[in-house]
Amino acid sequence: MKRQCLINGVLGLALFALGSTAFAATKNVTDGKQIYEQNCIYCHQADAIGKAGFAPSLTNKELLSVASDKFFMSTIRDGRTGTGMPPFAHLGKKGIKDVVAYLRTFEKVPNRSRSIDAQPASYGDARQGKFWFNQICVTCHGVEGKGYANGVVGTAIGNKDFLRKVSDGFIRETVKHGRSNTRMLGFTGPEGLANLTPAEIEDIIAYMRTLDKGSDRGR
Ligand code: HEC
Ligand code: HEC
Repeated sequence: MKRQCLINGVLGLALFALGSTAFAATKNVTDGKQIYEQNCIYCHQADAIGKAGFAPSLTNKELLSVASDKFFMSTIRDGRTGTGMPPFAHLGKKGIKDVVAYLRTFEKVPNRSRSIDAQPASYGDARQGKFWFNQICVTCHGVEGKGYANGVVGTAIGNKDFLRKVSDGFIRETVKHGRSNTRMLGFTGPEGLANLTPAEIEDIIAYMRTLDKGSDRGR
């Protein structure tokens, strides 16, 4: 009997502990949803599906798989200077964390950011990359990757606030596999927008790194 009580007690405690973390997690998500609806929905739309040429999808399967919490949190905190994405430092670390927890509820495939961010840096040739970038990427991302400001459908991939927060692995994966249900199709395989070889993709990344003027990162 006594033993049974002890077991019940331990089980109860364990269940209680589980329950309270689950509760805390749900609370983060409900708070995050509310913050999202008050601050982000106007641009990123309901369920963060985005609007081409206006604000990207934040619930896109590939984005959620490639992006680390650090990428999301620092992007939300600092915004992207010179684009429509304002800084939200005033939401505080907790507020920003809660919005990210809310966005994570849309995740459909496991997060791979750790291995993606650990990929080696690009070994490409920036001069070659410039050629490919101007041939292929400018149509949707604008001259020097200036994005929507150029009246195009793609984001500002030449923006320093973007480039300083992403790893080469993040760019590489996005170029290879694209983002489903957006105009950003991948650039490998038969369904790609164009078939780029791995070396060409490396060249493009090397060129993009030169667009982050005034920084010593990625040179
Ligand atoms: C006034 C419009 C506007 C509001 C409000 C806004 N965003 Fe954005 N957001 C943008 C735009 C525009 C971009 C793309 C910038 C670019 O061209 O690179 C963006 C980009 C982002 C990105 C990067 C996505 C990617 O694909 O790399 C994240 C993350 C993000 N926003 C989160 C948020 C969150 C969370 C909120 C609310 C707290 C928010 N945004 C509010 C306009 C907005
Ligand atoms: C047909 C249009 C189109 C072409 C061509 C295109 N992109 Fe994109 N790209 C997009 C769109 C649209 C998005 C944002 C997806 C969204 O709105 O959710 C995007 C997103 C990206 C992102 C993620 C940016 C972010 O803010 O997180 C990277 C990196 C990228 N593209 C690189 C490239 C490169 C490099 C090329 C050329 C090899 C290229 N793209 C060509 C439309 C395009």
